[in-house]
Amino acid sequence: MCGIVGYIGELDSKEILLKGLEKLEYRGYDSAGIAVRNEDGVTIFKEKGRIADLRLAVEDDVHSKTGIGHTRWATHGVPNQINAHPHQSESGRYTLVHNGVIENYHILQKEHLQGVEMKSDTDTEVIVQLLEKFSNGMTTAEAFRHTLSLLHGSYAIALLDSEEAQTIYVAKNKSPLLVGLGEDFNVVASDAMAMLQVTNEYIELHDQEMVIVKKDSVEIQKLDGSIVGRESYIAELDLSDIEKGTYPHYMLKEIDEQPAVMRKIIQAYQNEQDELEIDDAILSAINKADRLYIIAAGTSYHAGLVGKEYFEKIAGIPVEVHIASEFGYNMPLLSENPLFIFITQSGETADSRQVLVKIKKLGHTTLTVTNVKGSTISRESDYTLLLHAGPEIAVASTKAYTAQIAVLAITAALVAKNTGHSVDFDIVQEIGIVANAMQALVDSKEEMEQVARDFLATTRNAFFIGRNLDFCVSMEGALKLKEISYIQAEGFAGGELKHGTIALIEDGTPVFALATQKAVSLNIRGNVKEVVARGANPCIIAMEGMEEEGDTIILPKVHPLLTPLISVIPLQLISYYASLHRDCDVDKPRNLAKSVTVE
Ligand code: AGP
Repeated sequence: MCGIVGYIGELDSKEILLKGLEKLEYRGYDSAGIAVRNEDGVTIFKEKGRIADLRLAVEDDVHSKTGIGHTRWATHGVPNQINAHPHQSESGRYTLVHNGVIENYHILQKEHLQGVEMKSDTDTEVIVQLLEKFSNGMTTAEAFRHTLSLLHGSYAIALLDSEEAQTIYVAKNKSPLLVGLGEDFNVVASDAMAMLQVTNEYIELHDQEMVIVKKDSVEIQKLDGSIVGRESYIAELDLSDIEKGTYPHYMLKEIDEQPAVMRKIIQAYQNEQDELEIDDAILSAINKADRLYIIAAGTSYHAGLVGKEYFEKIAGIPVEVHIASEFGYNMPLLSENPLFIFITQSGETADSRQVLVKIKKLGHTTLTVTNVKGSTISRESDYTLLLHAGPEIAVASTKAYTAQIAVLAITAALVAKNTGHSVDFDIVQEIGIVANAMQALVDSKEEMEQVARDFLATTRNAFFIGRNLDFCVSMEGALKLKEISYIQAEGFAGGELKHGTIALIEDGTPVFALATQKAVSLNIRGNVKEVVARGANPCIIAMEGMEEEGDTIILPKVHPLLTPLISVIPLQLISYYASLHRDCDVDKPRNLAKSVTVE
């Protein structure tokens, strides 16, 4: 959560910072600020609200070639102008922005900052006040490293010293941060997307590093002051990947991209002979395991539930799927040779990372399935499988979910092949069929919009039911609807509703029922009858060949194991239109952020 940027060079930094923050707004959007430095000193602009509000507050006639900026998702202190970053030390000498959480800020405040009047309720202010305190008798670099050595928690920091016009100091621990390189300028950002406007050449930073950034040099230091050399890399990103183009919302663009993502995944995992291939070391790690433990949060957890079916049914390996935030503190008894699979679109989710840290300490092997190359969880795992979905910017995850499922299906099929399990379908061909089916569904937007009007226009709540793989998708459908339309929604196993929740069914309650699994099709139809008898308004989404009169949406036929890849598409679109009809902020729903980097 929170995004930070910094610029030092020859151009007016204001617009570069604001544009960078706009690209980082997915990380948090309750307040924002920039600090710019010129011959008059450091000027701060900050506002509660979005970057658009900050833009209005920034004065046109302030010019500067150095600056830092921040967009916030509040953890310590309510979202208001005072708690918005940048924060300044007591004398005004130091100004900084911070992404992360300082767990011991109270202790540090008590031990070192008695008598210092704090202006905000944030943990961040403690960092800048400590720095000023330690700067007495130390250089800024020394004082900064000393301050960092006292911090427990996560941080990405960009710092201005009003006595040093030519430098931005930055530091990183557990929160993402990159330095971008340019001709006569350098930049820093939480994410390459933020600075793609000026450069695509980046240097990755590691935890517990401090960097002295000048317009023509970048010096990375460890906290003991020793200098670290590191090569830069070119970010494989295109500005068009991160622009909305003609779409009204990123979510709609990302829903539409799903057929192409399926094809891209196949290409990415095909070798020169057009055969699917993943790293032998990954196959062998999976083969050695007696049980797979999938760890994830939110939508990625829902993809993990589908992945369990694949590894068990296609490759014959037992799998447990766990919610990351629970697993870390309530670890089950592990098998003798476990392999841990972390599923995370962003690769930065703190709940998943804390499990990874614990698992590594136990010495177990780890594999990350992620969309972001070089992300923290990817770097810290033994192995990575990439999703190749392209940047996902809308807070509601869509194409990453289907990409996760496709990559897990491919992996399970390859493991099965490798271990001599018979696989009676050609996964490449079947994913091709899925891509075409997805295309047909994303092309039927008008129909989906009408379904959203018919079923969700005035309702307070909605239920999603399914059995087997359809149950996994029901949970994802409910999450999608509630997070962007604020309609109370629950995903249930079809058979479970009658054990209590059916009490909530009233006249007109919308119940979305998925019927794509032949073995349980009679049972789910029975569950629909039960809710209809109590007044529910059923929306049945059935697979071609299993449809009955009165069903609302018929899905094109795909392989029975791959139905989650297509049954979710109407649910994504219906949620999108429900959000739109209710005038909600589709891409940036309230209280949320794309990358959840606090536990
Ligand atoms: C769903 O739409 C959300 N964006 C959310 O549940 C998300 O999947 C979760 O926070 C996990 O994120 P990750 O995949 O980046 O780890």
